[in-house]
Amino acid sequence: MRKVTLIPGDGIGPEITKAALEVVEASGAKIEWQIMDAGISANKKGKPVLSDEVISSIKKNGVCLKGPTETPVISGHRSVNVALRQKLNLFANLRPVRSIEGVRSRFEGIDLVVVRENTEDLYAGIEHRIGNVAAESIKLITAEASLRIAKFAFEYARREKRKKVTVVHKANIMKLSDGLFLECAREVAKDYPDIVYEEVIVDNTCMQLVKNPENYDVLLCPNLYGDIISDLCAGLVGGLGIVPGANIGESVAVFEAVHGSAPDIAGRNVANPTAMILSAAMMLKYIGEEERGEKIENALLEVLREGKNLTPDLGGSATTFEFCRSIVKKLES
Ligand code: NAI
Repeated sequence: MRKVTLIPGDGIGPEITKAALEVVEASGAKIEWQIMDAGISANKKGKPVLSDEVISSIKKNGVCLKGPTETPVISGHRSVNVALRQKLNLFANLRPVRSIEGVRSRFEGIDLVVVRENTEDLYAGIEHRIGNVAAESIKLITAEASLRIAKFAFEYARREKRKKVTVVHKANIMKLSDGLFLECAREVAKDYPDIVYEEVIVDNTCMQLVKNPENYDVLLCPNLYGDIISDLCAGLVGGLGIVPGANIGESVAVFEAVHGSAPDIAGRNVANPTAMILSAAMMLKYIGEEERGEKIENALLEVLREGKNLTPDLGGSATTFEFCRSIVKKLES
């Protein structure tokens, strides 16, 4: 039986995680979940928001399925996600964004992937106040991390038979930092003549994505732009509740929905577990259970297409549990 670390997380985390686990079980995958507390929920039990025990469990198992964790604004603890990515060196954030039949959105036929550098840029956490008059954040871009993420994006594109990689940057203004990111991407692109290489400035990318999203395939971004662009892309296909994500390192991977802990609807059994279930399916594929991952995706897509048992964010009135039951029924039939 394959051991996987499970972090239910905060807010709606435990509800959507429970749904994902039931679906994984119904697929027939044999997983032994090692349940770990992280985030505010760990804090409430007197534990640190991210303990060494959690880190060593993920390192040992190599794979983790994670619910969203809350991060206080301005003061309070640092983001568990950012800390996890740095401690485990999860350098690549992968977000496949696809239109789903039955999910209302402004566009159809969208199928793109955001590859985001996950460890540095303005998220390196190197910032300080200068008294009460100013604050400084360092935008850290290294050649090593930039070459590594560019290689990851091109390898991914080749493996998944994608045609184009678009690098998102602002090297016209940040000539040194974004300039280095771009130089590294250009260098790596030379080794992939089979894949079209393109560069677009970040503000223009946002406008183009909203106007002509079908023009994009794989988007390669430094950390901050990638964070913003991936939520924009989620909006193109119907919102945060339906997009899965993965944080991938050399030998460890953490799979999670792209949305947050949704404190406004937590504990009400109305959260949409789609993104979490799709993240679990991605995880199964990563550990070599492709067929079961695919089976889950198909059952979920069928339930969404039928539109009978949808959660409120998708215009329905089903509970998280009822939505999950419909997927489990399809998997068991
Ligand atoms: P959020 O994604 O939690 O919520 C934004 C809006 O989308 C809310 O109206 C919420 O109800 C809705 N929503 C989100 N997921 C949903 C789902 N599965 N089903 C139905 N509706 C859903 O973003 P927000 O409010 O900015 O952040 C809340 C907390 O989550 C913060 O503490 C933030 O730091 C944290 N967060 C954690 C992430 C993670 O652990 N990966 C990612 C993003 C935010």
